[in-house]
Amino acid sequence: MEPSNIESCRWRAVANRHELNRLALSLILNSATESIKKRGEFHFVLSGGNTPRMIYQQLRSVHTNWSAWHIYFSDERCLSSRNKDLNSEMAREAWLDHIAIPKNQQHIIPVELGAKLAANEYLKTLRFVKEFDLTLLGLGEDGHTASLFPGLEWGSLPGSPDVLSVFSAPKEPKHRVSMSAIRLSHSKQVIFLVSGESKHWAVAKWRKGINIPAKAIMPEAGVDVLLESSLLAPLSF
Ligand code: 6PG
Repeated sequence: MEPSNIESCRWRAVANRHELNRLALSLILNSATESIKKRGEFHFVLSGGNTPRMIYQQLRSVHTNWSAWHIYFSDERCLSSRNKDLNSEMAREAWLDHIAIPKNQQHIIPVELGAKLAANEYLKTLRFVKEFDLTLLGLGEDGHTASLFPGLEWGSLPGSPDVLSVFSAPKEPKHRVSMSAIRLSHSKQVIFLVSGESKHWAVAKWRKGINIPAKAIMPEAGVDVLLESSLLAPLSF
């Protein structure tokens, strides 16, 4: 895939973390309302990491038709089931265990099978959804997103598999399962949630056009990057 031009990336600067959460919540609800109104379903990919935690908690009190929601995970860490560092465990504790999305519509990556088998199983799950309605993603300090890391496979070329097994992630745990860049790009809307000074270099590289994994996520409609305005300050390379 050609490197995306910077214009397909909308930098949505907010004053602080509270404003980021507020904007993210309203964008999620707008996407859900529109998807359910048009197609009766909302296919929503959750990001891992800590940034989305409060947004997930705020989703508990939303009034919506939960039976229309279908949940997926951008990636998962290969840890024992119910380990608190699992991305799915964070989402369950913060949100999913508190609302009535049918369990068979919460598509957890079965990492207890190991990275290879879990990736194969998740490939089968994703066959039933051609395009997601909304995908949330985080940004790592090194520019990674989901479990697509610099120097490793991102799955951004046509013909790449939808799901990748990762065995040497630089961020623990080493073994992970991740949707590929090309699969994450099959989404009507992609929102990145970026908060904290530790992400400043990754943002600066991205804005300079340096090829970091986050930049490989290129849905037709472009991406929205929600970030604190302080992270837009230029850094000298
Ligand atoms: C993971 C995530 C990863 C995360 C970023 C940002 O499993 O670690 O999928 O891509 O989104 O590392 O993490 P924070 O939100 O905790 O900064």
